Amino acid sequence: MVGLTKVILRLAAGVAVAVAGAGAVSAAESNYPNRAVTWIVPFAVGGPTDAVARTVAQRVATELGQSIIVDNVPGAGGTLGATRAARTKPDGYTLFVGHIGTMAAAPYLFNALNYDPLRDFVPVFRFPDTPMALLVRSDSPFKTASELFEAARKNPEKLTFGTAGVGSSSHLAAEHLAATIKAKFTFVPYKGTGPAMTDLMGGQIDVMLDQTNVALPQVQGGRLKALALTSQSRMPLFPGVPTLTERELPGFLASTWYGIYAPAGTPSVVIDVLREAYLKALADKSFTDGLKNNGIDVLAADQVKPGPFGDFTRSEQAKWQRVIRDAGITPQ
Ligand code: MLT
Repeated sequence: MVGLTKVILRLAAGVAVAVAGAGAVSAAESNYPNRAVTWIVPFAVGGPTDAVARTVAQRVATELGQSIIVDNVPGAGGTLGATRAARTKPDGYTLFVGHIGTMAAAPYLFNALNYDPLRDFVPVFRFPDTPMALLVRSDSPFKTASELFEAARKNPEKLTFGTAGVGSSSHLAAEHLAATIKAKFTFVPYKGTGPAMTDLMGGQIDVMLDQTNVALPQVQGGRLKALALTSQSRMPLFPGVPTLTERELPGFLASTWYGIYAPAGTPSVVIDVLREAYLKALADKSFTDGLKNNGIDVLAADQVKPGPFGDFTRSEQAKWQRVIRDAGITPQ
């Protein structure tokens, strides 16, 4: 009997410790965030992902009352940064800026990917989407997309096409374009389209597809020429620039989506805090107007939440698996 009482007391003590432990974790979570949060951007500084992430980070940081530090970890089409992010502690203090390439196409392009986008991450919120512009230097001999396509068809692999590496959105769109126009380019991979654009302006490469938010200042400043847009309709920010779908390539659309993912195991209360901060930012017209004025499409609030963003990530994985298989691309 005494033995049984001791066992019961020991069990009761164990439960008390467990309850106290659970309470301590909850306290840490309910104070979230009580220090700076890091967002890993898997591309170089100055590129479109970096630019969108920094704009959103600044506004979300205001809502959170803590700084957000952007840590650029570029390489291998963004998969190096994704691998690093997947291995961080799931406490909400390190988050990942994932996109169409790293979270949807990469599993079908790399044989030895060190992370699984769906198993190792949970979606937090989706950023606005950004269409692309087909860009050449302002003194390029090509005045229209048709002229460029004709030259590419006549001279296979002669024209150099800058991308942000295998599986990046600039690479996926470029492969899609090459297949559509039945031409061969020589793809030149960079650690982001920021450095690729520097080389485009410097004359080291001939052409690239980059997102409108970073293309805009260079086109407005006369350093680059936009031959066409990959959006559904023309954009007032790019006066006189046609879309590819309206003339040369009906049905050809391309845009980059991205958003914040947390390592799997991140407490749901943390995800809720981050989502609410972003929804508050989206309700601020000066913030959304600033994005739109940079050529970025602001999505409706119900599309950006974790549930719809998770469904969207899964559907994009299925889409890119199909596209990559149908294009006969062998994973590397
Ligand atoms: C891409 O092409 O996938 C990225 O948007 C590149 C970048 O952000 O530099």
